Amino acid sequence: MLEKDSKIMDTIAESNRSVVTGIDEKDIEHWIKISILDREYKVPAGLTIMQAMEFAGYRFIRSCGCRAGFCGACTTVYRIEGDYRLKTAMACQTRVEHGMFLTQIPFTPAERAKYDINKLSPGIEAFLTNYPEILRCLGCNACTKACPQDIDVMEYIAAGKRGDIGLMAELSFDCIMCGLCAIRCPAELAQYNYAQLGRRLHGKYETPVPEHLNTRVKEIADGKYNAELDNLVQTKVEDLRKLYTARDIEKA
Ligand code: SF4
Ligand code: SF4
Ligand code: FES
Repeated sequence: MLEKDSKIMDTIAESNRSVVTGIDEKDIEHWIKISILDREYKVPAGLTIMQAMEFAGYRFIRSCGCRAGFCGACTTVYRIEGDYRLKTAMACQTRVEHGMFLTQIPFTPAERAKYDINKLSPGIEAFLTNYPEILRCLGCNACTKACPQDIDVMEYIAAGKRGDIGLMAELSFDCIMCGLCAIRCPAELAQYNYAQLGRRLHGKYETPVPEHLNTRVKEIADGKYNAELDNLVQTKVEDLRKLYTARDIEKA
């Protein structure tokens, strides 16, 4: 491991130390007060919301997945004491602040249409058929302000309303389907489901299929890798670890 990488790993390990090994209170220099589901806790400063909640004794069985900002599971709503604004964040990506009043949202129930992508065409008709309510957008921008990925949600909805599928797909590319835009929308839209339809349409109809992907899919369908996969399934865990460590890694 490079020295630089090793330092990064040390930093990560240090920032998680109190959470993963139990607290050694004398080592904690700065404490803050937060409130979780209306109960007050004293937690070390510098933790993420997720770490602080675990420090306070919560064990996540929902609202937690990748811990790295990708899965969209850890949606959080909070206020800061003395500030009227209701804020949104991902608990694994946001540091706790003194005076936070926190609550987790297990998931966002939202309408999702059933469609056969092979029977749709890339344009406004696909939305008028499956999500006609998209036309209710008021242009208030509350969705964009709520998005933890800094996506211009209002703009991708506007692109969808114009039938500009390519722009919708491009603007929503980093969406992690967390649902925070939907919970702030006064028109009660489910923006992320519309964007997913937009990306699917764009991928199927407007993007050239890479030949190497077709080749690989055919190889898989023809069973070229079956023996290798069967072999891996039979391999002991410790041997799998060795194989994993010794694998070829593409240079960044
Ligand atoms: S667009 Fe909506 S669902 Fe997607 S990341 Fe932003 S807030 Fe979450
Ligand atoms: S919050 Fe809803 S109504 Fe407001 S801009 Fe976003 S999609 Fe449109
Ligand atoms: S746990 Fe996956 S985004 Fe936070």
